[in-house]
Amino acid sequence: MTARWWQIGVIYQIYPRSFQDTNGDGTGDLKGIERRLDYLANLGIDTIWISPIYPSPMADFGYDVADYCGIDSRFGTLADFDDLLVQAHARGLKVLLDFVPNHTSDRHPWFAESRSSRANLKRDWYIWHDPAPDGGPPNNWISDFGGSAWEWDEATGQYYYHAFLKEQADLNWRNPAVRTAMYDVMRFWFDRGVDGFRIDVLWHMVKAAHFPDNPPNPDYQPAMGEMHRVLQLHSTDQPEVHGIAGDMRAIADSYGAAGRGERVLIGEIYLPVDRLVHYYGRERAGVHLPFNFQLIDASWDARSLAKLIADYEAALPPGAWPNWVLGNHDRSRVASKRGQAQGRVAAMLLLTLRGTPTLYYGDELGLTDGAIAAADVQDPRGLRQHELALGRDPVRTPMPWDGSENAGFTTGRPWLPLNADWPTRNVAGMTEQPHSILMLYRRLLSVRRAHPALTIGEFALLGAEDDVLVYARRHDAERLIVALNLARRPHRLRLPDWATTCQPLLSTVAGTAPTGAGSLLLRADEGVILKPA
Ligand code: NOJ
Repeated sequence: MTARWWQIGVIYQIYPRSFQDTNGDGTGDLKGIERRLDYLANLGIDTIWISPIYPSPMADFGYDVADYCGIDSRFGTLADFDDLLVQAHARGLKVLLDFVPNHTSDRHPWFAESRSSRANLKRDWYIWHDPAPDGGPPNNWISDFGGSAWEWDEATGQYYYHAFLKEQADLNWRNPAVRTAMYDVMRFWFDRGVDGFRIDVLWHMVKAAHFPDNPPNPDYQPAMGEMHRVLQLHSTDQPEVHGIAGDMRAIADSYGAAGRGERVLIGEIYLPVDRLVHYYGRERAGVHLPFNFQLIDASWDARSLAKLIADYEAALPPGAWPNWVLGNHDRSRVASKRGQAQGRVAAMLLLTLRGTPTLYYGDELGLTDGAIAAADVQDPRGLRQHELALGRDPVRTPMPWDGSENAGFTTGRPWLPLNADWPTRNVAGMTEQPHSILMLYRRLLSVRRAHPALTIGEFALLGAEDDVLVYARRHDAERLIVALNLARRPHRLRLPDWATTCQPLLSTVAGTAPTGAGSLLLRADEGVILKPA
C-alpha cells in the first residue's frame, strides 16, 4: 500500500487554553503552541489537532463559536495562526483545526439574525419550533449537559434546539444555505494551509425530520447524567448526515486533487462500532477517520481487549483505515483510569495497534485527573450537574513544563490549577529520567517510526490468555511481536515457533526482559515489543 501521512502519522491533541501561555493571562495561546513545536517534533508526533481557537464567549470553552473565520483574541490573531502554521510545517508537522459545525454560539451574528424575527431570512438556519400543545418544549429531547434541549424565546414565541448549552444553538443542516456557508468556512482554513479538521459531534448534525420523542433508556441511572434518561435515537445519527460528510470529503479531496496537499477529516462520533463505521462512507466517501474511542472505556483484560480489536477490525469496510484513541478533553485521563504502570502498557498498545493513534496532551507525562476545588470549577457540564462529578476540568489542567513557578505554563494565575505533582511530573524533569513515561513515549514513537510493520503492517492476534495480550505486526519480511501484561504479576509467555529467539526492542519497564528458549518472562505490568532474531 502507499501510506498516506494521516495513516502513518501520530496525532497529538492540544487543548490550547492549557498548553502554554505567553502573555501572562493564565490561559494558553497560539504563540505558546509555537514555542513548544520543537518539544512536539522531538517527542516524535506528526500532527497536532488544536481544540477550538475561534472567537467565542467561551460558554463551552470555544465549542461555542461566534465567528468561524477568526481567532479569539485570548489565543492571538490570524497572523499568529499563520505563523504557527508556517513554523509547524517547517518542522514537518501537520496542523488540524477543530471544526464545530453542529452548533454556533448564541452570540454568532447568524443566530442574532435568526432570533430577531420569524420572518428573518436566517430564521431557518437554526431549529425553531412551536411549543407542544401544553406550552412546553416541542419534544422530550435532553441536552447533553442536562435539562431540556429546547430554549424558549419570548420575543418570537418559539423554542430553539440546542444539543449542548442554550448558548450553543444547533444549526439546521437541512437548509442548503447553512451548508454553503459552512463549506465556505472549511475552504477558508484549507486555503490558509490547514491540513484537516477534527469535526465536532459529527453524528449529531442532522435530526429526525419531524422531531419525534426519543424513547426512554431502560438502563438509565441518575449517576450517568440526565442526558442518558432517553436514547438519542431521533436526535442523532440520521441517514442524511452521510451526505453532508460526503460533501465535506469532496471539498477536502479537491485540495489533494489540485496538488495542494492531501487534507484529512476526522469525525468525533460516539456510537457502537457497527454504526460508527458507516461514517467511513460508502459510494460517496465519508470522513477519513471516524474516531474510535473504544479503548477509553474498555475492560482492561486480555480477552476483552482482543475481542474489541478483532470486532473493530472485522467491522471496517474495505479500504477503511483504523484509528485508536486513549484520551481527550472530555474523558478521564488514561493514567487515572488505568494507573501509572498500566498507563505505560496502554501507551504501547495505542502506538502498536494497526491504525492512526491520537494522543492527548499531558498523557505522555502520565498526567492524572487534577483535583479541582468547588470554587475553581469552570466547565459548564460540571457546574450544571455538580453533584454527579461530570465536570471535565480535571482533564484540562495546565501542561507542566518545568520546575519553575506555575510549571512554566504561565507567569500569571493559571485558569485551572496545576496538578499537585507538577514539581516532579513535568517535561524538563522527566526528560532527565531515562525511565520516565515521557521517555517511554519518545522511544515508542521512534520505534514506531523506524519499523514499518508497526505503521502499515498487518495485524494478527496471537493470544489473549489470562492477563496477557499478544499480537504480531508484519510488513514484508519484518515481523514484530507485542506482548502486554495487563496485570501486576509476572507471566511466562510461550513464543510462537517463528519467534523462539527474540530480541526485545522496547519494554515499558526498566531493564531487559529475560528471554529463555522459546519463552519470555513478562514482568508485572510489562509490555514489550519483540523482534525475532
Ligand atoms: C464535543 C466536544 O468534544 C466537547 O468538549 C463539547 O462540549 C461538545 N462537543 C459540544 O461542542
